[in-house]
Amino acid sequence: MKIFIDTADIDEIREAQQWGIVDGVTTNPSLIKKAVEKMKAIGKTMEMEEYIAEICRAVDGPVSLEVKGITAPELVREAELLYHKFNPVNHNVVIKIPVNTALRKDDEPFEGIKAIRALSEKDIPVNTTLVMTPTQALLAAKAGAAYVSPFLGRIDDYLRNRLGIDYGKMDFFDSTITRIMEERERKARDDYREMAEVDHSDDGIYDGIELVESILRVYRAYAMKTKVIAASVRNARQVRRVAEMGVDIATIPFVVIKEMVSHYKTEEGMRKFTEDVVEEYRQLFEDTGRQQ
Ligand code: E4P
Repeated sequence: MKIFIDTADIDEIREAQQWGIVDGVTTNPSLIKKAVEKMKAIGKTMEMEEYIAEICRAVDGPVSLEVKGITAPELVREAELLYHKFNPVNHNVVIKIPVNTALRKDDEPFEGIKAIRALSEKDIPVNTTLVMTPTQALLAAKAGAAYVSPFLGRIDDYLRNRLGIDYGKMDFFDSTITRIMEERERKARDDYREMAEVDHSDDGIYDGIELVESILRVYRAYAMKTKVIAASVRNARQVRRVAEMGVDIATIPFVVIKEMVSHYKTEEGMRKFTEDVVEEYRQLFEDTGRQQ
């Protein structure tokens, strides 16, 4: 599984790059806003073009940059602009296009898909963003997207909010509990229609992990080439679950990558090993140091 870092913070990108496990970067307008605000808070000004070029230079894997338009012609124009401006820097730009750019229910829903088709025909790689259902992922793949990014954390948020569950941003959502609740509530009803009304899922999807699992199943059924990026990842346990499923890539925030390497017992073990280094053993390393 490849690991992308989900940030536009150049310091985080550089630090994670030094860890030797980062295969790419994903940004979005909210992450860029956060990076701009951080710069302003420390009294630095940011020249956006140079800043994005720095991000592209910082990693040798794909860097996703997102458009801001709504209509297909706008999306294509902005994608071409970003691609032609930044791809020459390190030949690693991928353009993020929302699967559906409608801002309201009655807006035209296929602008994103039309743009994905147009860009893939021009060999501009697209990462389809804001994917919340397997059918959106199917359409993106049919339109020629190189990547799809199912937002698993936001699906968990949506389902938890609907049920009025309190949670912290990085909490794992255990959907087995909501399934049990649903089953019990259904059993308490006697009419089929009343039973069907009790539904704690989002159209049959009980959590973000299941969203990723379903997309992988659909793509594997038709040998689709589009790569799946598990996105909107909130904790290390989600990373483990999508890795077990064989997802192609997970894009992970800096703080969650740090969580992945940490465990209380590892720390405790380190303290004990450090304490137990006897003088004779310590000298062994001093000798090695002198020889070099
Ligand atoms: C990455 O491609 C997405 O933009 C990002 O993972 C969204 O994460 P969030 O839901 O935590 O904002």
